[in-house]
Amino acid sequence: MKYPVILGIETSCDETAAAVYQKDRGVLSNQIFSQINLHKIYGGVVPEIASRSHIEKIRPIVENALKTSQITLQDIDIIAVTQKPGLPGSLLIGIGFAKTIAWALKKPIIGINHLEGHIFSSFLENQVPFPHICLTASGGHTSLYLVHDFSNYEELGHTLDDAAGEAFDKIAKILGLGYPGGPILEKLAQEVAFKDFYHYPRGKTDSFYFSFSGLKTAVLYDLVNKNIYDLKTKTMHIDKLNHELIQKVASSLLVCINDIFITKLKLALAYYPTIQAITFVGGVACNKFIKNNIKNFAQEHNIEFFSPSAQYCTDNAAMIALVGSYKAQQGLFSDYKLDLA
Ligand code: KG4
Ligand code: ZN
Repeated sequence: MKYPVILGIETSCDETAAAVYQKDRGVLSNQIFSQINLHKIYGGVVPEIASRSHIEKIRPIVENALKTSQITLQDIDIIAVTQKPGLPGSLLIGIGFAKTIAWALKKPIIGINHLEGHIFSSFLENQVPFPHICLTASGGHTSLYLVHDFSNYEELGHTLDDAAGEAFDKIAKILGLGYPGGPILEKLAQEVAFKDFYHYPRGKTDSFYFSFSGLKTAVLYDLVNKNIYDLKTKTMHIDKLNHELIQKVASSLLVCINDIFITKLKLALAYYPTIQAITFVGGVACNKFIKNNIKNFAQEHNIEFFSPSAQYCTDNAAMIALVGSYKAQQGLFSDYKLDLA
């Protein structure tokens, strides 16, 4: 049996990405242009800048993906494109580009849910047993899923306010550390060996839902109490914000978010004792400290642990193509009227 060659296209936020994937051969190419440098000075993603950059990069990125996989457009059997959720202006660039190629070449097209891409991203490098628990944590989303099979999963809980990555980004911004905050804070926390100096609030322990906005407030009020941040004038006394203090905030924050994740996973295991594995996906899964802790937790409970390599944790088109491949197997195609969902 010849498995279809899938071209994946992803433009939901600030990465322009294209990948070629075939089930039996795996990822044949995975091209990403990250817009981080364009958004850095604003401390977050600026939607209009994001869409303009996608327009410039989409064609060269798709061409590169084809070239590195030594595949021509004619060899592509199916085009899979992120349809939702994301920034509308950004999504439209990818959808428009994908529809044009599909229509011109008369190839089938499949609209993909970006979150499903993350949920199944562990399958790019491993065969993960079902049922399993998937913890998705990125800059836009933080959710816990019970995954029964491909296309068959249920959300147990999601964040009621900020996503975990967003908490890292916002707190890094408060501390004047730059964007994205996650990797910067991890490096600082590592310097003081991931200790829990300030013990920030962990929130509810008996619910699958997350909340991270209180954490941001807790960090801010801690700085107020230390006379570093002035609430009235909304000014930071940068001279008092020394490196040691920033290290301690970063470290306490990482330990806190790690504890929150472990608490939710414990609850999931208690409710669903038959689960075979835990997967940890999304940009925050690049965090080695948290990843190792979840891995140890899984081992202690005699279940397997999977987390994609960094290139498949952050936004990428390989995961979109992979979901396209099993949707195609199930005959779940879209039509050329595909639009934002
Ligand atoms: O999955 P992703 O590329 O984009 C979204 O779909 O949001 O995730 C980006 C997020 C950012 O919030 C970033 O701060 C976070 O992932 N991140 C990390 C690390 N690397 C990236 N968070 C914690 N530790 C890291 N090492
Ligand atoms: Zn994402």
